[in-house]
Amino acid sequence: MNSKIKNFLRKKNTKKIVCLTAYSKPITKILDNFCDLVLVGDSLANVLYGMKTTHNLKLETVINHAKSVRLGIKKSLFVVDMPKDTYKSPKQALKNAKYILKKTGCDAVKIENNLQNLNIVKSLTKSKINVMGHIGFTPQFKKKFKVEGKNKNEQIKLLKHAQNIEKAGAFSIVLECISKTSAKKITKSIKIPTIGIGSSKECDGQILVTDDVLGLSGFYPKFVKKYANLEKIIKNAIKKFNLDVRLNKFPSSKNSFE
Ligand code: KIV
Repeated sequence: MNSKIKNFLRKKNTKKIVCLTAYSKPITKILDNFCDLVLVGDSLANVLYGMKTTHNLKLETVINHAKSVRLGIKKSLFVVDMPKDTYKSPKQALKNAKYILKKTGCDAVKIENNLQNLNIVKSLTKSKINVMGHIGFTPQFKKKFKVEGKNKNEQIKLLKHAQNIEKAGAFSIVLECISKTSAKKITKSIKIPTIGIGSSKECDGQILVTDDVLGLSGFYPKFVKKYANLEKIIKNAIKKFNLDVRLNKFPSSKNSFE
């Protein structure tokens, strides 16, 4: 386990953990000043490539963005999502995780968990690969959005699942759109940090998609808080550039060579 992971684990019960997604160097350079963890999420498929789901995202695409993110990271824990169908068997998962690590220099990979893939977590961690789990609404496996853990039965299942992922060796788990009661129970009963998205304050930390936070994605469900409206700021800047060019005000002598 590298020192960045050890540091990350120590944050449970001491301070709230700040995580965000990134797909490129310029944004990562800013995030790195504030975040404990930066994730190259497969949300990349929807946010940048306009795909309806994350299902057809290629491993090479994630790796290329992760290479850019790598250039912006100095201190944050650097995690890369494994796209759907790149970890269907322990052998395939190991081969692809090693490839991601080699190409990007990341500290860990994240996989989405279903009830059948605990063996993937086990085999990766046995090979000393740091794994972040992901339960609740897992877009790689679930078609219809639903908040999970609203009734006792679901709460018991989610808790068991989280405990099994911890036992399998994961260093942290993302809880996506899980009820407050369920998130609290899981967070209290496992020793590894839980990182929530749409899963209340009861998690050890929070993650959001950066483009949503910045008001650039056009996707603002209930659990997203928009901290800026970059769409508006960019529109205004481009409108001014457009006017300057049309009115022959740009480039002035200030921006020209004699
Ligand atoms: O793909 C992603 O961005 C994610 C986070 C939202 C947790 O998995």
